[in-house]
Amino acid sequence: MEYRALVLEDIRENDEIKALILQQSKYLEDLGYTEHGIRHISYVSKTTANILRETGADERTVQLGEIAGWLHDIGNALSRKYHGLTGGALAYNVLARMGMDPAESALIANVIANHEEETGVATSALSAALQLADKSDAHRSRINKRTYDENDIHDRVNMSIKKNYLVVDRNKNIIRLVIIMDGTSAPMEYLQIYIPRMVMCEKAATYLGYTFELVINGVLINHHKRARGKMVLRSSERELSPTD
Ligand SMILES: [Fe+2]
Ligand SMILES: [Fe+2]
Repeated sequence: MEYRALVLEDIRENDEIKALILQQSKYLEDLGYTEHGIRHISYVSKTTANILRETGADERTVQLGEIAGWLHDIGNALSRKYHGLTGGALAYNVLARMGMDPAESALIANVIANHEEETGVATSALSAALQLADKSDAHRSRINKRTYDENDIHDRVNMSIKKNYLVVDRNKNIIRLVIIMDGTSAPMEYLQIYIPRMVMCEKAATYLGYTFELVINGVLINHHKRARGKMVLRSSERELSPTD
């Protein structure tokens, strides 16, 4: 049987996928969640591919990373609960119908099913890269303006994040998440809701053979072997998918 080497463009144009993404986005917006539409999936798609490229993956894996990033949240078209698992099942079926090699569809299904911190485990570079990309996306542009509530900690934390980006430092084997917050919230509040996701990022980076560093407002939060206090980012470091 002839299979098709699908790329992101094929995925973006598919009507079934368009409908699922519209539904996922609308459903979560109605429930008052942060943005889970084209902006978020574009960020995750691009950032997953960038992490894979920077950490030395082959070109096909980078392409599959773009696809998995685009599809990773479609389970939310059904329900928030278990959306990783349902999304993996949905993605496998659509991709198989589109003629993708079953081995590739199965890998993408596994990556999607493992992207949430409650149950997700990275057993492939693709999965680890997508977890890092997804969990790093906290930013004021994700705020749902219609339901914004300053008494809601998620809204406050996202609103306060003016800039966030990932850096892959191949020389020092470090993957660094850099976050710049203003006084709308505080690093403590960020940690209160993001600790499980940051632990997932630490494990994902370890899987890729890297150390994960979380830097908020210039302070290294999660690692003590290197210099403490203010971090000076070298100009040679490339920002992956900055979101401002
Ligand atoms: Fe998700
Ligand atoms: Fe996501």
